[in-house]
Amino acid sequence: MGRLTTQLSSSDTITVIDNRTSKTIEIPITENSIPATAFKQLSIPGVSSKGREEDEESKGLRVFDPGYMNTAVIKSTITFIDGEAGILRYRGYPIEQLAEHSTFLESSYLLLYGNLPSPSQKILFEKEVQAHSYVHSDLEGFMKSFRYDAHPMAILVSAFSALGSFHSEANPSLQGQKLFTTGTPDSLRNMDKQIYRLIGKAPTLAAMAYRIRQGRPFNRPPVGLGYTESFLYQLDFLNEREYRPSPVLAKALDVLFLLHADHEVNCSTASILQVGSSGVDPYSGVAAACAALYGPLHGGANEAVIRMLLDIGSPENVPEFIEKVKSKQKVLSGFGHRVYRTSDPRSFVIRKIAEEVFEATGRDQLLEVAMALHDAALKDDYFKSRKLYPNVDFWSGLIYRAMGFPFDFFPVLFAVPRVVGWLAHWRQMMLAQGGLKIWRPRQIYVGPTLRDYVRLEDRAEESGQKHVNQASATFGLRLIESYQKDKPDQPRQVSVIPLLIFDLTIVLTHYRMSPSVTSISNNTTATPSSSLSKYTSTSPASSSSSKSSSSSLNSMTTVTTTSFDGFLDGNISDVGILLKTLSFSSQKHSFQRRKDPAQSPYINHPIGVANFIAETGETDIVVLQAAILHDVVEDTECTIDEIELHFGPEVAKVVDECSDDTTLSACARKLAQVETAGHKSKRAQQVKLGDKLHNCLSIQSAIPVGWDVERSQRYFIWSKQVVDLCASSNPKLAARLYTLFSEGTFVHRGKTYACVPRKMSDISGTKWKSYYPPVDY
Ligand code: CMC
Repeated sequence: MGRLTTQLSSSDTITVIDNRTSKTIEIPITENSIPATAFKQLSIPGVSSKGREEDEESKGLRVFDPGYMNTAVIKSTITFIDGEAGILRYRGYPIEQLAEHSTFLESSYLLLYGNLPSPSQKILFEKEVQAHSYVHSDLEGFMKSFRYDAHPMAILVSAFSALGSFHSEANPSLQGQKLFTTGTPDSLRNMDKQIYRLIGKAPTLAAMAYRIRQGRPFNRPPVGLGYTESFLYQLDFLNEREYRPSPVLAKALDVLFLLHADHEVNCSTASILQVGSSGVDPYSGVAAACAALYGPLHGGANEAVIRMLLDIGSPENVPEFIEKVKSKQKVLSGFGHRVYRTSDPRSFVIRKIAEEVFEATGRDQLLEVAMALHDAALKDDYFKSRKLYPNVDFWSGLIYRAMGFPFDFFPVLFAVPRVVGWLAHWRQMMLAQGGLKIWRPRQIYVGPTLRDYVRLEDRAEESGQKHVNQASATFGLRLIESYQKDKPDQPRQVSVIPLLIFDLTIVLTHYRMSPSVTSISNNTTATPSSSLSKYTSTSPASSSSSKSSSSSLNSMTTVTTTSFDGFLDGNISDVGILLKTLSFSSQKHSFQRRKDPAQSPYINHPIGVANFIAETGETDIVVLQAAILHDVVEDTECTIDEIELHFGPEVAKVVDECSDDTTLSACARKLAQVETAGHKSKRAQQVKLGDKLHNCLSIQSAIPVGWDVERSQRYFIWSKQVVDLCASSNPKLAARLYTLFSEGTFVHRGKTYACVPRKMSDISGTKWKSYYPPVDY
């Protein structure tokens, strides 16, 4: 509290003169801070001539700091950040050293209790946390009540809160207000138990949120695996014998968890402190913090980064995007930080982990866009002058994507480790000297001053009053309407990315739209048959039944949007069913990649098929659907009958012809299938060709981990045989494939090789024969 200047001055004070009254106060400076309450002494009795009653000048000067730009709200011994120098320390230890030598759980102990654990403390702590990983089976029912397309963060927020309802002994409302603040052994024991529980169960709840959306049964936490290993196991285990997650990915995740464990009083930590200051139980506090983390300016930024990179698409679009950021139309997600005014030290560690992960999973094509964006931003004055540098989220999303996690799961991967930081700060606050003080900020009231109630009949509508927006259900339609307005004459191909509804960025499919918007609106509750074909007509009259001809693909424009609710709202249409099924399929691919990084070239395969076939302009919508569903059928339990039910007999027929009930990597079986291609439809062959092209291009750009030159060449040669068999069905696509094989090259360990060697004798070894059936060229 400040004192009047009549008292002796010291150098550790600040003198403030209120020019309104000439009053001077001297405020002590401790730890380079002054108490905001000192300013309450600067008051004007009564109401000044300029002031309003609501300014409360007689009650002292207020400190206005929206967004806490320069307000410290707590004294802490946990984490130190020097934003100018790019320093981050947990309890004094530099983050770089911890990332190199420590583990997530060891650093968690450090954050919670102040020092690194002794060997026995470490064992005990890890045991306690892991022992608390099981959740009550009643929670399973709760988790199952979420829809398949619920955002996993929404599930997690609710799950933390629900978890609290199982632990009445942790509830100050039931057990007494001083439950966690006395510091007695009993109280500390109780508090620690809740901490172990929350840290132990966080991965279990997160994994449940993941599995529920895939229709997979929940996995029980395994015994004998580390924290992140156990998490990966709960996410991915199906029914394999002795399944163990990839040690490379488990280690990478452990370091990522360590880096994310705490970050002083950030938005979500401030939330648990704010909520916790009321004395509520820690489960509710963690739920509140989790909700704060969900936002795209905070923990949701890693998800936003990937969506942004996909939106940019390729490095040449970066300058245009940068211009949009500078004109405030876009935000460069993953850049900037309230505290860091130079690079985020975590981002350096993360880039190193990224290399290790990419080595195992293959390089993500988006990395090129990310690098181009990163370099362009760092050179640009807009970012330099505002000291905006990449933060932790700029890179972490790329790693999570490479590991095969769906985008909307990224914030969950941030939330699980951050539970530790939240609880460390909560524990510190509960045990703070002087007891718990409720957090109750003030506001500056700028609203109307005193006025009398006006009866309804005497009221006129105020000008400038806001009106309720049109229902969001029409968003998709409005988007297309506005799009149509720009170019009314063109038939278009619209590629929709249903970002908000599904967890993966999926190119739904390609469809051509009628210039008539009405026909689309009529079809939002369409019957199951004919599916997307209803969007393909070129005239309103034929919109609900006809299939388009390939000629209308000529002038294609691609539109992407971040929402698709206009089509899916209410009575879920067959498009919704397709999306749902496709979402399953894509998740399966991601999941496979995490389990077996060598599978990476097959990621997003159905989408690739659809894209490549669309590129040829030779095919119609049914084939595109079939291309997608072909893989859906392979990768899910979906039966042809179900396809027929949802998509109609024509689609089912094509899918049936394409389906080979095995995974994409089972090349030998595919060959057998294609060998009988003479009996199959032309469309089926087109699908096969598109399929091949996509695989070959993927493999060409990134040879799968573990493949040597010989194996790669064998693959290309085998693919060539497929092309031979199918060539007549689609000459244009086949020509493209021939060029690929005859002139194509790939790079292996820095050396370039021909996809198909000039002479077959260039390929030696006996493995060829055993790998694929003998082929006579
Ligand atoms: N893209 C474009 N402009 C930006 C960005 C950005 N990412 N970040 C800040 N700015 C601008 C901002 O508009 C302001 O411009 P002007 O001076 O013309 O008004 C200026 O830079 C200063 O902003 P600031 O005061 O430094 O920003 P802040 O402290 O209020 O916000 C932030 C910090 C992290 C919310 C913000 O930088 C941002 O929105 N970044 C993108 C989201 C993101 O990556 N969040 C993850 C943060 S790190 C992980 C975590 O802890 O959650």
